[in-house]
Amino acid sequence: MDHFIYRDGALHAEDVALAEIAANVGTPFYCYSDATLTRHFRLFQEALSPLDHLICYAVKANSNLAVLRTLGALGAGMDVVSGGEYRRARAAGVPGEKIVFSGVGKTREEMRHALEHGIRQFNVESEPELHALSEVAATMGATAPICLRLNPDVDAKTHEKIATGRKEDKFGVPIARAREIYAQAARLPGLQVVGADMHIGSQLTDLAPFEAAYTKLADLTRTLRADGHQITRLDLGGGLGIPYTRSNETPPLPLEYGALVQRIFGEMDVEIEIEPGRLIVGNAGVLVAQVIYVKEGEGRDFLILDAAMNDLIRPAMYGAHHDIVPLREPVAGAPSQAFDIVGPVCESGDTFARARPMPPLAAGDLVAFRSAGAYGAVMASEYNTRPLIPEVMVKGDQFAVIRARPTFDEMLARDTIPQWS
Ligand code: LLP
Repeated sequence: MDHFIYRDGALHAEDVALAEIAANVGTPFYCYSDATLTRHFRLFQEALSPLDHLICYAVKANSNLAVLRTLGALGAGMDVVSGGEYRRARAAGVPGEKIVFSGVGKTREEMRHALEHGIRQFNVESEPELHALSEVAATMGATAPICLRLNPDVDAKTHEKIATGRKEDKFGVPIARAREIYAQAARLPGLQVVGADMHIGSQLTDLAPFEAAYTKLADLTRTLRADGHQITRLDLGGGLGIPYTRSNETPPLPLEYGALVQRIFGEMDVEIEIEPGRLIVGNAGVLVAQVIYVKEGEGRDFLILDAAMNDLIRPAMYGAHHDIVPLREPVAGAPSQAFDIVGPVCESGDTFARARPMPPLAAGDLVAFRSAGAYGAVMASEYNTRPLIPEVMVKGDQFAVIRARPTFDEMLARDTIPQWS
């Protein structure tokens, strides 16, 4: 459920007509709903309420400070994967003790910064990283709390590019070697083992892979405890999928996921952390664009929008589907026409949808891409020297620009022509 609904024939974000925002900020733009963000966060809180838990929102899904502030104020911790994300979480007011640091390639500089400014735990993904962190922490006279990220060799049955828990993926240490690496960690200076971590992939639409991976994690936890390690927390990663179409998708609900987590870990006397990103913010955002031209091609017609693959790369990169709807509600029984929906960027990959049935549309009309709150704005680029598009947050009947559109002068001013030319 989200808060983007037609009211009086016009698509609204909560109580604000998206067309009104378009008139104010111009198109294209991203728009997020505070109420949807809050609702989705609370669904996870409710689902895990019988357990000692912390929900560490995966900042990578949408890292705008306003989004982080909303979630932080609800009690969220954060999962970050770079020094930049760490700084964003802190700037949004999230304390270091609620921030976990994930990622396969943390640099010593990133480790140092997090240790200096406060960190809940590092999710360590390899032996070289373990040694680097030990060295950095010991040199600083600090102690780094760590979980080892375990690779359970479970196929998440999701898109190839976002499956992360198979043995051929770059993530985590093989679960078969976990005891040996935990023993190493216990011997190294500057480290304190606090738990274990897993994240098997994103946009999972079935609970079975979670169950397979978590069962392995629970078994391993018992073994590690018997070996004498203090496993006081388990980070279960993120990955719960969302419906991208209104009609036929029914991914598991947070409550069902929560029941699974309770069934497996409920009696283990352990604090549970999860790192959801997409489920919290995905359906809390839309991308609004304008039709520039309706072009008749040979045997197909094109809707050419002012948004492009640089603004929302998911269709080009993963073949992802996003529902695209007009801001003006189509009249019931209106004829539909199949369009290829494309952007202005100069490659054929800049195609959002092929032969998509759409209601009648003309140049100047506005459309919204649904489910664009996660991995939308954060993956944008300035390809074709197209400015990054603004982001807007709605709360009730108010809206605020939470990232302004840069001017062309600002964009060009970042380049420097060397003296010699
Ligand atoms: N934790 C870790 C360690 C992760 O790598 C990720 C996502 C998450 C949590 C959050 O997963 P979520 O709950 O959002 O599924 N750009 C892709 C998705 C990449 C996901 C990367 N890792 C897309 O647009 O589909």
